[in-house]
Amino acid sequence: MSLYSIALFVHVSGAMLLIVLLAIEGFSLRKGVAAGRLQQTLGPITLVAILVPGFYMAAQIGWHAWTALGLVTYVLIAAAGIYTGVSVMRGRMSRSTAGVSWLIRTGLAAGVVFDMTVKPDLVGSLAAIAVAVAIALMAVPTVRRATAVA
Ligand code: HEM
Repeated sequence: MSLYSIALFVHVSGAMLLIVLLAIEGFSLRKGVAAGRLQQTLGPITLVAILVPGFYMAAQIGWHAWTALGLVTYVLIAAAGIYTGVSVMRGRMSRSTAGVSWLIRTGLAAGVVFDMTVKPDLVGSLAAIAVAVAIALMAVPTVRRATAVA
């Protein structure tokens, strides 16, 4: 057991929590119920659990394309998540549009998990994220239907 393995454990737990957060958001969009309070609590925990050990591990093994892209993508996921959550709560974004934002962030997260485990070069890392988002976007009609009828 090393500090690195503990950091990896915390980091992967943070990644799992991010997926749980996305699942809760998807469920609340589908049902039309508010989950803002829960997300405001879990979101910062996810951020700390992913970023603190992420930076520590990157400092140990050196920065690579997949770590740098993971950081940029995580910032995008967090910023788009906050913007979408606040906009929906204030009635400035429809649930249907929020559903598309949710799909894109889910695809981004899946792409980052691929990059973190396979560790491709820059082109491979970008391609994995693009493919994951493209696959996620294939569900746009389903999400639009689900958010329209609920
Ligand atoms: C959406 C955000 C992120 C997710 C879902 C995620 C997910 C993961 C997962 C599942 C692993 C385990 C891979 C394995 O052991 O095979 C991992 C490892 C790692 N992640 Fe992330 N990560 C994210 C963001 C970041 C960020 C922002 C950084 C850097 C600041 C980072 C740096 C690392 C490093 C250095 C490893 C260790 C790789 C190894 O030792 O094999 N991650 N990540």
